[in-house]
Amino acid sequence: AAANIGVVGLAVMGANLARNLASREGNTVAVLNRSPERTDALIAEHPEAGFVPAYSYEEFAASLTRPRTAIIMVQAGAATDATIDALVEVFEPGDIIVDGGNAFFPDTIRRERTVRETGINFVGAGISGGEEGALNGPSIMPGGSDEAWATLGPILTSIAAVADGEPCVAHIGHDGAGHFVKMVHNGIEYADMQLIAEAYDLIRRGTGKSPAEIADVFAEWNRGELESYLIEITAEVLRQVDAETGRPLVDVILDQAGAKGTGAWTVQTALSLGVPVSGIAEATFARSLSSHPEQRAAAAELPGPAETFAPLDETAFIEDVRQALYASKIVAYSQGFDEIRAGAAEYDWSIDLGAVSRIWRAGCIIRAQFLGRIAEAYTEQPELPLLMSAPYFADALSRGQAAWRRVVIAATAAGIPAPAFSSSLSYYDGLRAERLPAALIQGQRDFFGAHTYRRVDRPGTFHTLWSADRSEVRL
Ligand code: 6PG
Repeated sequence: AAANIGVVGLAVMGANLARNLASREGNTVAVLNRSPERTDALIAEHPEAGFVPAYSYEEFAASLTRPRTAIIMVQAGAATDATIDALVEVFEPGDIIVDGGNAFFPDTIRRERTVRETGINFVGAGISGGEEGALNGPSIMPGGSDEAWATLGPILTSIAAVADGEPCVAHIGHDGAGHFVKMVHNGIEYADMQLIAEAYDLIRRGTGKSPAEIADVFAEWNRGELESYLIEITAEVLRQVDAETGRPLVDVILDQAGAKGTGAWTVQTALSLGVPVSGIAEATFARSLSSHPEQRAAAAELPGPAETFAPLDETAFIEDVRQALYASKIVAYSQGFDEIRAGAAEYDWSIDLGAVSRIWRAGCIIRAQFLGRIAEAYTEQPELPLLMSAPYFADALSRGQAAWRRVVIAATAAGIPAPAFSSSLSYYDGLRAERLPAALIQGQRDFFGAHTYRRVDRPGTFHTLWSADRSEVRL
């Protein structure tokens, strides 16, 4: 046995993670892949890594020092289950199997429970940062037992991104907690991307600026409070020219957004938990809407507004859009952290929301200056009930809300879809409202189904005898 850590699955993410591990002092990395050709190719391309190749699970297990620790980087679903089963066959009690893919957290909970019976530790770990992050430093969100974390912690810390001197990895909580938090990270990622896309669309259709000119706007925004990886890469994408046609690449790319499911999981889970993640939901639905060409063709002739959209002051309009983007972003993160808080309560995880925001400051796709502000908010008030009500964010919302409203009004008047901007604003106004029409919903429910209601002026549960004399009974 020569290796202290192993990687199973050598597609780009797995190969990059293995190279990252191998580049850190003290690590020797065993590698295994279903097809041996890929293993051989990796060894040949990276002799500097000193990989220990294995061509069977037995060989792989024999090459690892105890407790054996292996990170699985294979496709979610059946491939992950098959790999876990194969490792369980050759590993021993105390060994550690880590699933570093994007698994749905209930699967992780199930796998952890099954594997634990063998005495082997199973850890679901969210790993964010794409290919580049895997190679140079991702943000890592491991769940699993404290025992597994004791061995795994130093290894993951050695490869994680670093933000202000702190590694972007933390033991999130037991069993599925890490994959749960990674799922919400992706939901927020969807919202961030959709908000940026809406901002781009509004500026383009409102001012007629070219993608390259809008790239300059985003590059400028990236120097302020919106500074983030996604804003930065947006400028790069908008500036790209298609070699074949000479047109902006963004005009050549088919406008149908793909999705591998993590956004949908975030929304499904939020629905079960009763947490309104409306911005994330709209972002997920916006991708679905874009991907129905037959319905879009059928709707293409439906009427829009008569007037064309032309803001009087372009500079002021662009600044309004920037503020609307920032305000909506605050809402999306507030909703995402709310889902983590609710998930932790439901699944009995003790998740430190401040630690989550700190490990998202670097390495991951949603990395941004902004995460430092969230960390501060949770440090000041660990039990903060609502992120957007923390002083820094409340202040930003109060500065931005007038612009936010102007943008949603302009988009609506012009017939430009801005689902994430407008749903975020409705969420903000919904929570702010002194009274909500939910009272009427309760009245309707009581009318047709005797579902009862509570009153504002005294305790208890009540029902109106709607089909009799309409007197009220206390139940
Ligand atoms: C990350 C990303 C990554 C995700 C891609 C694609 O944190 O590195 O979230 O895990 O797979 O972003 O996701 P979609 O295909 O669903 O857009």
